[in-house]
Amino acid sequence: MNEVMISQDYNIKGCNSNKKLRLEPVSFILFGATGDLAKRKIFPALYQLFLVNRLPHCISIIGVGRKKLSDDSFKMHVKDSLNEYSRASNIDEMKLTKFLSYFSYQGLDVTECEGYTILLDTVKTREEHFGIPENRLFYLSVSPEYVQDIARNLNKSGLGSTKGWRRLIIEKPFGHDLQTAQELNNKLSHEFNEEEIYRIDHYLGKPMVQNLESYDFANSLFRELWNSKYVANVQITASETVGVEERAGYYDQAGAIRDMFQNHLMQLLMMTAMNLPNKVDEDVIMNEKRTIIQSLRPLQKFEIENNVIRAQYGPGEILNSKVAGYREELGVSSNSHNDTFIAARLWIDNCTWTGVPFYIRTGKRMKEKSTKIVIKFKEELKSLDIFKEKMIVPLHVVITINPEEKVSLKINMKNPLTNTTEPINIDFSSKSENQPEAYELLLFDALRGDSRFYVHWNEVESTWKWVQPVLEAFKENLVPLHHYDSGSMGPDAADSLLEADGFEWI
Ligand code: BG6
Repeated sequence: MNEVMISQDYNIKGCNSNKKLRLEPVSFILFGATGDLAKRKIFPALYQLFLVNRLPHCISIIGVGRKKLSDDSFKMHVKDSLNEYSRASNIDEMKLTKFLSYFSYQGLDVTECEGYTILLDTVKTREEHFGIPENRLFYLSVSPEYVQDIARNLNKSGLGSTKGWRRLIIEKPFGHDLQTAQELNNKLSHEFNEEEIYRIDHYLGKPMVQNLESYDFANSLFRELWNSKYVANVQITASETVGVEERAGYYDQAGAIRDMFQNHLMQLLMMTAMNLPNKVDEDVIMNEKRTIIQSLRPLQKFEIENNVIRAQYGPGEILNSKVAGYREELGVSSNSHNDTFIAARLWIDNCTWTGVPFYIRTGKRMKEKSTKIVIKFKEELKSLDIFKEKMIVPLHVVITINPEEKVSLKINMKNPLTNTTEPINIDFSSKSENQPEAYELLLFDALRGDSRFYVHWNEVESTWKWVQPVLEAFKENLVPLHHYDSGSMGPDAADSLLEADGFEWI
């Protein structure tokens, strides 16, 4: 598909950015280096960047973890993770040896400041050895309760005092609610400036999500139609077939609203609703997202029941296999009131989107794994006589983010056999054979100092502000907890949410 800009090219060239983006020599210090995320995502992404020459020419990667490991055992661990998770079709031994030569390991109790002094020595020795001018990227792939301690200890020990630049990458969740997010941010802001903090939302690394920045300004068709004059409603769905898996301890406290809605889905909403000028850089995107999120109409508690649906999965069947209900899952209490599904109607009160409902839904144990955005256009577009026939459907655009990556247009065309006008789908797929993974794009951006696809504090705070009354309404049981069968598309109540406005989920 030639018309749709592929974000990989865009990112690499950085052609629309005013900022000078450069890959500079760096010490990459990875906390949580023996954890699951490092194994599944971070090492494979770094390896892929290495293969395509998108790592700085001088890089020292220091894994930090609780376990005591020798450098060699750690390198073996990295190698195993690549064998299992790398998307490279085969691992070339010579290249692998070179890649592994960047790595070393340091065992550390992250809550104790003493160990950081030894870490500082290791970092400095390697900086001298590799000729790295004290540029330090700290990646915290750790559980949220350690984030503050690590940030503080980095500064206390001198690791955070660099002659070059420093960046801090943090994984989600950022807070458990508005207050805890604000507290965390307050503490972090004593240690790092906002420009140095890179909050990851892996949805922002997905190539089709990154493409959202280019749809309206790069395609005049979309640009003209992307507003309340033509759009009837917008639907954002992220459905999953997996259940709670082995994460009950975390998920039963978080629910779909914290796990997916407050971050990934709200980010999709901002990215979809952005209205960008011709020239796009990091600040433009950041400001536009801020404008959108700050224009979200807040819900009063008494309005929540009519605008937010929460539900929990019961037993059912997925891909011909019987699966248990949420309350039967390991680690979940038999009377858990946790939401595994959420759907909501939101309004953006700005001049572009006033009057257009945005419907969002996400859930576990649903019929299919799929993330998509549907822009449904108004009936006015078919006011021409030719479009008055029965079969005609209003135009809609579907942006599929996962598992496929494509844009589909549903339009009306004349069928030459029947001589009637009928709806047809036109699909454009932007997936190239060597499509980068989200973590590759995000790490590449962090290495060269581009935070456009990272989450800024004002976005985190504004999304929590919107979500907070909903959390309270859930806690106070002001919103019923519906049930849905595993393998369905959620509870009937989520369908009724749209039916009340004369729409249906597409
Ligand atoms: C994570 C959530 O952030 O995103 C998981 O914690 C969820 O519960 C996952 O399964 C979904 O990501 P993706 O990329 O598979 O849609």
